[in-house]
Amino acid sequence: MAIVGAGRVGCALGKRLHQKGWRIGPVITRSMRTARAARRRIGSGKPQAGLSEAVLAADLILIATPDRAIAETADALARIGAGPRSVARRNDKYHRSGARRARQGKKKSGSGAWRGKIVLHTSGALGSDVLRPLALRGAAIGSLHPLQTFSGRTIPGLPGSTCAIEGSADALRAARRICRELGGVPVVLPPRRKAAYHAAAALAAGHVLAVIEAAVRILVSVGFSRKAAVRALVPLTRQTLANYERVGARAAWTGPLSRGDFAVIERHLEALRHFPREYRGAYDALSRLGVNVLGNRGDSRKQQLERTLARIK
Ligand SMILES: NC(=O)c1ccc[n+]([C@@H]2O[C@H](COP(=O)([O-])OP(=O)(O)OC[C@H]3O[C@@H](n4cnc5c(N)ncnc54)[C@H](OP(=O)(O)O)[C@@H]3O)[C@@H](O)[C@H]2O)c1
Repeated sequence: MAIVGAGRVGCALGKRLHQKGWRIGPVITRSMRTARAARRRIGSGKPQAGLSEAVLAADLILIATPDRAIAETADALARIGAGPRSVARRNDKYHRSGARRARQGKKKSGSGAWRGKIVLHTSGALGSDVLRPLALRGAAIGSLHPLQTFSGRTIPGLPGSTCAIEGSADALRAARRICRELGGVPVVLPPRRKAAYHAAAALAAGHVLAVIEAAVRILVSVGFSRKAAVRALVPLTRQTLANYERVGARAAWTGPLSRGDFAVIERHLEALRHFPREYRGAYDALSRLGVNVLGNRGDSRKQQLERTLARIK
């Protein structure tokens, strides 16, 4: 396989697949420095700065560039397959190096170059339609989104993680195989559902992090050291999640809103006056969300909450 865009996700998947015996070919980033670093992280592969015909030696091409670069990467790859002249149209550095190598390349190019190749991207929000230029060249296109957070510092455990996959039959088969190889659980998702799916992932990961960081800052402002604040709050969140997993959302719900204790909520609102406006905005929005998704149908707490939020400005 070739990895185009070997950052956090590209390196993590490359490393795990290499450990499972996959042969890693070109490891492509935008500079030789980052490509060599990626190769070291993966433990295999041939570092390369920019696209070239070398990708055509791989049966499977994994595009793990940022979402915003996937369409242009697919375009540039398709042009490589179409032959040197059309590749040379691009004038940015990343794609120019591909064009230069394509002109010098000895490997077969032309309309048949992509036939039988499988190209997958790893975006959670985009469908495989963004790879259409490659499908027009005969490649099987799809996407494989590991529902995990890759910080780049460590490689998260993938066993048990969901992988959202979609694409043409051959691409889907390859994506399912990769996912199982990683110990993941493949879930086929229609491309039109991916944006909503990814919004859920953002709520459960990055947005949860923002809430916890705000809570830590509040504790720091009342005298905790940052370390003590993290030590105090992380076990609380961890236990809440454990309860949620074990007994479900309603039974795991605690706190003044769950008890309908609006006097305490008023005190929270008074206290939040001393913090940036976003804190209060988040508290209001999360209280409304909480009573909606955790409360009962026709819950009287909804009206009481609105009255309390309106009273304490
Ligand atoms: N991070 C996560 O937790 C996570 C989880 C699941 C899925 N994803 C998805 O996986 C994909 C990659 O995310 P990531 O977090 O791994 O990104 P990343 O760490 O920023 O790595 C991006 C890689 O793509 C290369 N690149 C950047 N801009 C490019 C461009 N304009 N053209 C070509 N290559 C370019 C970078 O090269 P240089 O190294 O030379 O800059 C780097 O190798 C995204 O679609 C993302 O949505 C991310």
